[in-house]
Amino acid sequence: MDKFDLSLTLNGKSETRRVALDARLLDVLRYDFGSPGTKEGCGEGECGACCVLLDGVLVNSCLVPAFQAAGRRIETVESTPPDLLQTLNATGTSQCGACTPGVVMSIRWLLQHPEIAESVGLRAFMSGNLCRCTGYDGIIAGLEQALQSNAKKAET
Ligand code: FES
Ligand code: FES
Repeated sequence: MDKFDLSLTLNGKSETRRVALDARLLDVLRYDFGSPGTKEGCGEGECGACCVLLDGVLVNSCLVPAFQAAGRRIETVESTPPDLLQTLNATGTSQCGACTPGVVMSIRWLLQHPEIAESVGLRAFMSGNLCRCTGYDGIIAGLEQALQSNAKKAET
């Protein structure tokens, strides 16, 4: 199989790995760059389990060819600030955990775009992340709490 050297910035660190030319971003993150927190659910762009930030944009990494990440900045669930994780744990955002990495990345994106929370609504926004445990009450509670904490930080 043809390979190429893929260089990118992963969670703030410049990294290069030799990866398959036809690989998906999801797989190179998990198996080549040692970042297994990003999970595969459907593999078809429908469940949101594989969400990462690509140059600050929320994407389903199962749909992104790895070569499109060349020279770009990737953030995964591994770089989530501990205080946010603490907030989400405290509000029961995660049950079995299968959807959690994607949920956390969606929440991180929304925290950077709080105006979207107001215009779209939290439940509608989170509809791109499927939770089979039907744990949306916990997810929304975590998101509300995180938005409040961010707003408080912005005031100080
Ligand atoms: S695994 Fe990528 S959207 Fe489901
Ligand atoms: S916590 Fe189990 S699928 Fe969401």
